Amino acid sequence: MTHPALQPGHTAVITGAADGIGLAAARRYLALGLNVVLADIDAEKLLAAVAGLNAGDRAMAVPTDVSNPRAVEALRDATIAQYGVVHVLMNNAGIGGGGSAIERPDRWRALIEVNLFGGINGVQAFGQAMIDGGQPGLIINTGSKQGITTPPGDTAYNVTKAGVKVLTEGLQHTLRNTPGCQVSAHLLVPGYTFTGMTGGGRAEKPAAAWTADQVIDYLIANLEAGVFYVICPDNDVDEALDAARIRWAAEDVAARRPPLSRWHPDYKAAFEAYVREQGS
Ligand SMILES: NC(=O)c1ccc[n+]([C@@H]2O[C@H](COP(=O)([O-])OP(=O)(O)OC[C@H]3O[C@@H](n4cnc5c(N)ncnc54)[C@H](O)[C@@H]3O)[C@@H](O)[C@H]2O)c1
Repeated sequence: MTHPALQPGHTAVITGAADGIGLAAARRYLALGLNVVLADIDAEKLLAAVAGLNAGDRAMAVPTDVSNPRAVEALRDATIAQYGVVHVLMNNAGIGGGGSAIERPDRWRALIEVNLFGGINGVQAFGQAMIDGGQPGLIINTGSKQGITTPPGDTAYNVTKAGVKVLTEGLQHTLRNTPGCQVSAHLLVPGYTFTGMTGGGRAEKPAAAWTADQVIDYLIANLEAGVFYVICPDNDVDEALDAARIRWAAEDVAARRPPLSRWHPDYKAAFEAYVREQGS
Protein backbone atom coordinates (compact mmCIF):
# COMPACT_ATOMS: atom_id res chain seq x y z
CA MET A 1 0.00 0.00 0.00
CA THR A 2 1.47 3.32 -1.04
CA HIS A 3 1.31 6.06 1.61
CA PRO A 4 -1.88 8.13 1.18
CA ALA A 5 0.18 11.29 0.58
CA LEU A 6 2.09 9.62 -2.26
CA GLN A 7 -0.81 9.32 -4.70
CA PRO A 8 -1.07 10.21 -8.40
CA GLY A 9 -2.01 13.85 -8.92
CA HIS A 10 -0.59 14.90 -5.56
CA THR A 11 2.27 17.39 -5.27
CA ALA A 12 5.75 17.13 -3.72
CA VAL A 13 8.20 19.96 -3.05
CA ILE A 14 11.86 19.01 -2.65
CA THR A 15 14.74 21.30 -1.71
CA GLY A 16 18.30 20.50 -2.71
CA ALA A 17 16.69 18.73 -5.65
CA ALA A 18 19.21 19.47 -8.41
CA ASP A 19 21.34 16.51 -7.39
CA GLY A 20 21.83 13.50 -5.15
CA ILE A 21 19.11 12.34 -2.76
CA GLY A 22 16.74 15.21 -3.64
CA LEU A 23 16.86 14.49 -7.36
CA ALA A 24 16.38 10.75 -6.74
CA ALA A 25 13.29 11.59 -4.66
CA ALA A 26 11.92 13.78 -7.47
CA ARG A 27 12.35 10.94 -9.97
CA ARG A 28 10.58 8.50 -7.66
CA TYR A 29 7.65 10.79 -6.88
CA LEU A 30 7.18 11.43 -10.61
CA ALA A 31 7.14 7.68 -11.21
CA LEU A 32 4.44 7.39 -8.54
CA GLY A 33 2.37 9.95 -10.46
CA LEU A 34 2.97 13.03 -8.31
CA ASN A 35 3.74 16.52 -9.57
CA VAL A 36 7.15 17.67 -8.35
CA VAL A 37 8.54 21.08 -7.55
CA LEU A 38 12.32 21.06 -7.47
CA ALA A 39 14.12 23.81 -5.55
CA ASP A 40 17.86 24.39 -5.40
CA ILE A 41 20.27 27.29 -5.01
CA ASP A 42 22.19 26.20 -8.12
CA ALA A 43 19.81 27.45 -10.81
CA GLU A 44 21.81 26.14 -13.76
CA LYS A 45 22.10 22.61 -12.37
CA LEU A 46 18.44 22.74 -11.34
CA LEU A 47 17.18 23.66 -14.80
CA ALA A 48 19.32 20.93 -16.36
CA ALA A 49 18.02 18.39 -13.82
CA VAL A 50 14.38 19.28 -14.47
CA ALA A 51 14.91 19.19 -18.24
CA GLY A 52 16.41 15.70 -17.79
CA LEU A 53 13.26 14.47 -16.05
CA ASN A 54 11.22 14.91 -19.27
CA ALA A 55 8.12 15.38 -17.16
CA GLY A 56 6.49 18.29 -19.01
CA ASP A 57 4.17 20.32 -16.80
CA ARG A 58 4.36 17.73 -13.97
CA ALA A 59 7.75 19.14 -12.88
CA MET A 60 8.62 22.72 -12.06
CA ALA A 61 12.00 24.27 -11.18
CA VAL A 62 12.05 27.06 -8.61
CA PRO A 63 15.57 28.35 -7.91
CA THR A 64 15.58 28.91 -4.14
CA ASP A 65 18.06 29.65 -1.39
CA VAL A 66 16.54 27.80 1.57
CA SER A 67 18.41 29.99 4.04
CA ASN A 68 16.20 32.91 3.00
CA PRO A 69 12.71 32.68 4.56
CA ARG A 70 11.22 35.02 1.93
CA ALA A 71 12.56 32.77 -0.85
CA VAL A 72 11.00 29.70 0.80
CA GLU A 73 7.64 31.51 1.12
CA ALA A 74 7.91 32.38 -2.58
CA LEU A 75 8.53 28.68 -3.28
CA ARG A 76 5.36 27.80 -1.38
CA ASP A 77 3.33 30.45 -3.23
CA ALA A 78 4.66 29.34 -6.64
CA THR A 79 3.79 25.71 -5.81
CA ILE A 80 0.25 26.50 -4.67
CA ALA A 81 -0.32 28.74 -7.72
CA GLN A 82 0.76 25.93 -10.05
CA TYR A 83 -0.58 22.77 -8.37
CA GLY A 84 -2.77 23.72 -5.38
CA VAL A 85 -2.41 21.70 -2.16
CA VAL A 86 1.09 20.55 -1.15
CA HIS A 87 1.14 16.91 0.01
CA VAL A 88 4.87 16.28 0.46
CA LEU A 89 7.64 18.61 1.60
CA MET A 90 11.22 17.37 1.68
CA ASN A 91 13.55 19.79 3.46
CA ASN A 92 16.65 18.19 2.05
CA ALA A 93 19.10 20.91 0.95
CA GLY A 94 22.35 20.63 2.83
CA ILE A 95 26.02 21.53 2.79
CA GLY A 96 29.07 20.15 4.57
CA GLY A 97 32.50 21.53 5.28
CA GLY A 98 32.02 23.18 8.67
CA GLY A 99 34.69 22.68 11.28
CA SER A 100 35.58 21.96 14.88
CA ALA A 101 34.19 23.96 17.79
CA ILE A 102 37.05 26.47 17.82
CA GLU A 103 37.48 27.29 14.13
CA ARG A 104 35.80 28.67 10.99
CA PRO A 105 32.98 30.84 12.38
CA ASP A 106 32.01 31.79 8.82
CA ARG A 107 31.41 28.15 7.92
CA TRP A 108 29.48 27.58 11.16
CA ARG A 109 27.12 30.37 10.20
CA ALA A 110 26.74 29.13 6.63
CA LEU A 111 25.94 25.57 7.73
CA ILE A 112 23.44 26.72 10.34
CA GLU A 113 21.75 29.00 7.79
CA VAL A 114 21.37 26.26 5.16
CA ASN A 115 21.06 22.99 7.07
CA LEU A 116 19.14 24.16 10.12
CA PHE A 117 17.38 27.39 9.13
CA GLY A 118 16.68 25.84 5.72
CA GLY A 119 14.55 23.22 7.47
CA ILE A 120 12.99 25.71 9.87
CA ASN A 121 12.10 28.02 6.98
CA GLY A 122 10.49 25.12 5.12
CA VAL A 123 8.44 24.00 8.12
CA GLN A 124 7.30 27.55 8.88
CA ALA A 125 6.42 28.45 5.28
CA PHE A 126 4.60 25.20 4.42
CA GLY A 127 3.47 23.64 7.71
CA GLN A 128 0.27 25.54 8.38
CA ALA A 129 -0.72 25.55 4.68
CA MET A 130 -0.31 21.76 4.56
CA ILE A 131 -2.42 21.29 7.71
CA ASP A 132 -5.08 23.66 6.35
CA GLY A 133 -5.11 21.75 3.03
CA GLY A 134 -6.92 19.03 5.00
CA GLN A 135 -5.27 16.22 3.04
CA PRO A 136 -2.73 13.50 3.88
CA GLY A 137 0.72 15.04 3.98
CA LEU A 138 4.36 14.31 4.76
CA ILE A 139 7.10 16.65 5.92
CA ILE A 140 10.41 14.83 5.55
CA ASN A 141 13.51 16.52 6.92
CA THR A 142 16.93 15.17 6.03
CA GLY A 143 19.10 14.70 9.09
CA SER A 144 22.25 12.66 9.52
CA LYS A 145 23.75 10.04 11.79
CA GLN A 146 26.23 12.81 12.59
CA GLY A 147 23.36 14.61 14.31
CA ILE A 148 22.66 11.54 16.49
CA THR A 149 26.02 9.97 17.37
CA THR A 150 27.93 13.28 16.81
CA PRO A 151 31.36 11.91 15.75
CA PRO A 152 34.48 14.06 16.04
CA GLY A 153 35.50 16.15 13.03
CA ASP A 154 32.80 18.42 11.69
CA THR A 155 31.13 19.65 14.87
CA ALA A 156 29.36 22.44 12.95
CA TYR A 157 27.63 19.90 10.66
CA ASN A 158 26.74 17.72 13.68
CA VAL A 159 25.13 20.70 15.43
CA THR A 160 22.97 21.51 12.40
CA LYS A 161 21.82 17.93 11.97
CA ALA A 162 21.16 17.48 15.71
CA GLY A 163 19.01 20.61 15.35
CA VAL A 164 17.14 19.11 12.40
CA LYS A 165 16.42 16.00 14.51
CA VAL A 166 15.04 18.05 17.40
CA LEU A 167 13.04 20.30 15.04
CA THR A 168 11.45 17.29 13.37
CA GLU A 169 10.65 15.53 16.64
CA GLY A 170 8.94 18.66 17.98
CA LEU A 171 7.10 19.15 14.71
CA GLN A 172 5.73 15.60 14.80
CA HIS A 173 4.54 16.12 18.38
CA THR A 174 2.73 19.30 17.28
CA LEU A 175 1.19 17.65 14.23
CA ARG A 176 -0.10 14.60 16.08
CA ASN A 177 -1.72 16.88 18.67
CA THR A 178 -3.38 19.12 16.09
CA PRO A 179 -7.04 18.08 15.74
CA GLY A 180 -7.92 16.83 12.26
CA CYS A 181 -4.34 17.09 11.04
CA GLN A 182 -3.41 14.49 8.43
CA VAL A 183 0.18 15.59 8.05
CA SER A 184 3.06 13.71 9.70
CA ALA A 185 6.73 14.55 10.02
CA HIS A 186 9.60 12.13 9.45
CA LEU A 187 13.37 12.29 9.94
CA LEU A 188 15.28 10.84 6.98
CA VAL A 189 18.77 9.82 8.04
CA PRO A 190 20.79 8.62 5.07
CA GLY A 191 23.77 6.36 5.67
CA TYR A 192 26.86 6.79 3.52
CA THR A 193 25.34 7.68 0.16
CA PHE A 194 27.20 8.32 -3.10
CA THR A 195 26.23 11.88 -4.15
CA GLY A 196 27.88 15.15 -5.11
CA MET A 197 28.34 15.88 -1.40
CA THR A 198 30.33 12.72 -0.65
CA GLY A 199 31.59 11.74 -4.11
CA GLY A 200 34.65 14.01 -4.06
CA GLY A 201 34.65 14.04 -7.87
CA ARG A 202 34.79 10.21 -8.10
CA ALA A 203 32.91 8.63 -10.98
CA GLU A 204 32.57 5.19 -9.33
CA LYS A 205 30.43 4.54 -6.26
CA PRO A 206 32.60 3.29 -3.37
CA ALA A 207 31.60 -0.24 -2.30
CA ALA A 208 30.50 0.96 1.17
CA ALA A 209 28.04 3.56 -0.11
CA TRP A 210 24.41 3.23 -1.06
CA THR A 211 23.04 4.96 -4.13
CA ALA A 212 20.58 7.83 -3.68
CA ASP A 213 17.91 5.57 -5.23
CA GLN A 214 18.46 2.99 -2.46
CA VAL A 215 17.90 5.72 0.13
CA ILE A 216 14.60 6.64 -1.53
CA ASP A 217 13.51 2.95 -1.74
CA TYR A 218 14.16 2.64 2.00
CA LEU A 219 12.38 5.94 2.70
CA ILE A 220 9.24 4.95 0.79
CA ALA A 221 9.06 1.55 2.51
CA ASN A 222 9.44 3.17 5.95
CA LEU A 223 6.87 5.89 5.22
CA GLU A 224 4.42 3.18 4.26
CA ALA A 225 5.12 1.49 7.61
CA GLY A 226 4.57 4.80 9.47
CA VAL A 227 8.15 5.00 10.75
CA PHE A 228 9.33 8.39 12.06
CA TYR A 229 13.08 7.72 12.35
CA VAL A 230 14.10 6.50 8.90
CA ILE A 231 17.70 5.50 9.66
CA CYS A 232 19.18 4.09 6.45
CA PRO A 233 21.89 1.46 6.55
CA ASP A 234 24.61 1.34 3.88
CA ASN A 235 26.82 -1.44 2.55
CA ASP A 236 29.16 -1.23 5.57
CA VAL A 237 26.74 -0.45 8.41
CA ASP A 238 23.64 -2.54 9.02
CA GLU A 239 20.59 -1.62 11.13
CA ALA A 240 21.90 -3.54 14.18
CA LEU A 241 25.25 -1.70 14.14
CA ASP A 242 23.47 1.66 13.82
CA ALA A 243 21.22 0.76 16.77
CA ALA A 244 24.22 -0.21 18.92
CA ARG A 245 26.05 3.03 18.08
CA ILE A 246 22.93 5.11 18.85
CA ARG A 247 22.37 3.36 22.20
CA TRP A 248 26.03 3.79 23.13
CA ALA A 249 25.88 7.54 22.38
CA ALA A 250 22.71 7.99 24.48
CA GLU A 251 24.33 6.04 27.32
CA ASP A 252 27.20 8.59 27.45
CA VAL A 253 24.64 11.04 28.83
CA ALA A 254 22.69 8.62 31.01
CA ALA A 255 25.84 7.14 32.61
CA ARG A 256 27.75 10.46 32.81
CA ARG A 257 30.57 9.06 30.68
CA PRO A 258 32.92 11.42 28.82
CA PRO A 259 31.31 12.79 25.64
CA LEU A 260 32.11 10.98 22.38
CA SER A 261 33.37 8.06 24.50
CA ARG A 262 33.15 5.86 21.38
CA TRP A 263 36.30 7.66 20.20
CA HIS A 264 37.95 7.87 23.66
CA PRO A 265 40.91 5.46 24.10
CA ASP A 266 39.79 4.49 27.63
CA TYR A 267 36.42 3.26 26.27
CA LYS A 268 37.58 1.65 23.01
CA ALA A 269 37.50 -1.93 24.30
CA ALA A 270 34.20 -1.42 26.15
CA PHE A 271 32.57 0.03 23.03
CA GLU A 272 33.78 -2.84 20.87
CA ALA A 273 32.52 -5.39 23.43
CA TYR A 274 29.14 -3.58 23.56
CA VAL A 275 28.76 -3.73 19.79
CA ARG A 276 29.56 -7.48 19.84
CA GLU A 277 27.04 -8.01 22.68
CA GLN A 278 24.35 -6.16 20.73
CA GLY A 279 24.75 -8.75 17.98
CA SER A 280 26.24 -6.54 15.26
N1 LIG B 1 25.37 11.78 0.96
C1 LIG B 1 25.42 11.33 2.20
O1 LIG B 1 26.17 10.38 2.52
C2 LIG B 1 24.56 11.97 3.26
C3 LIG B 1 24.53 11.36 4.53
C4 LIG B 1 23.74 11.92 5.52
C5 LIG B 1 22.98 13.05 5.24
N2 LIG B 1 23.03 13.63 3.99
C6 LIG B 1 22.18 14.81 3.77
O2 LIG B 1 21.38 14.55 2.63
C7 LIG B 1 20.96 15.80 2.05
C8 LIG B 1 21.18 15.76 0.56
O3 LIG B 1 22.57 15.66 0.31
P1 LIG B 1 23.21 14.90 -0.94
O4 LIG B 1 24.15 13.87 -0.39
O5 LIG B 1 22.17 14.51 -1.91
O6 LIG B 1 24.15 16.08 -1.48
P2 LIG B 1 24.17 16.88 -2.88
O7 LIG B 1 25.32 17.84 -2.71
O8 LIG B 1 24.18 15.93 -4.02
O9 LIG B 1 22.78 17.67 -2.89
C9 LIG B 1 22.53 18.78 -2.06
C10 LIG B 1 21.87 19.87 -2.90
O10 LIG B 1 21.55 20.97 -2.02
C11 LIG B 1 21.75 22.16 -2.76
N3 LIG B 1 21.90 23.31 -1.86
C12 LIG B 1 23.00 23.69 -1.15
N4 LIG B 1 22.75 24.84 -0.50
C13 LIG B 1 21.47 25.20 -0.79
C14 LIG B 1 20.65 26.30 -0.42
N5 LIG B 1 21.09 27.29 0.38
N6 LIG B 1 19.36 26.35 -0.91
C15 LIG B 1 18.91 25.37 -1.74
N7 LIG B 1 19.66 24.33 -2.14
C16 LIG B 1 20.92 24.23 -1.66
C17 LIG B 1 23.00 21.89 -3.58
O11 LIG B 1 23.11 22.80 -4.69
C18 LIG B 1 22.78 20.44 -4.01
O12 LIG B 1 22.15 20.35 -5.28
C19 LIG B 1 21.78 16.89 2.78
O13 LIG B 1 20.96 17.50 3.75
C20 LIG B 1 22.90 16.10 3.44
O14 LIG B 1 23.39 16.76 4.59
C21 LIG B 1 23.79 13.10 3.00
